Amino acid sequence: MVTYGNPAVFDDSSLEAIRRARAEGFRARLLPAVSSLDCLFADLGLDPGKNGLQLHDATDFLIFRRTPDLSVPLVLWQISVIGQTRTTGIVNRGGLRLLAERLGELYGGGHGVVVYEASPFPVGPPMIERSSVNNLASAEVTGLSSLYVPAASNSTPDPAVRDRLSNLTA
Ligand SMILES: C[S@@+](CC[C@H](N)C(=O)[O-])C[C@H]1O[C@@H](n2cnc3c(N)ncnc32)[C@H](O)[C@@H]1O
Repeated sequence: MVTYGNPAVFDDSSLEAIRRARAEGFRARLLPAVSSLDCLFADLGLDPGKNGLQLHDATDFLIFRRTPDLSVPLVLWQISVIGQTRTTGIVNRGGLRLLAERLGELYGGGHGVVVYEASPFPVGPPMIERSSVNNLASAEVTGLSSLYVPAASNSTPDPAVRDRLSNLTA
């Protein structure tokens, strides 16, 4: 079975295919591949090694009222189908409005965000639309879009832990 992106990332159908194949006695192995997240790192110049990274499905982010660390970048997946249990092919603008409302509470309406779509082709540029939380609901979103929310503040080190670390002996 071949699918796009990394079949281990947000891809229930691949995981279910592996599960069923194994249950029927076949040997099945999931092979990693380049995820849209890998493309995002390269296209937006985001290195998760710098300040970490938070990842959520957009519906999960809203329903469970996730509280992100505002000093760590956030990537939200499946922003076109917020609250939907079936794929309709139509971008759910109402869901985007709810997402914008929640992000506004957390980051403020003027905070910059990026609607990102890696090129699905080996050639051709990615779609990178810079917008703000306030304008998210009217941004150009497709079924392939992810949302990158940059950090809103700097990380603050804990001086006590920093001191303990610098005084450690081997
Ligand atoms: C079912 S998940 C599949 C993810 C896939 N397994 C991967 O590794 O990229 C679909 C979601 O992945 C993200 N996605 C898929 N293709 C993308 C692309 N070309 N650019 C940016 N995000 C993408 C979007 O958030 C989309 O709603």
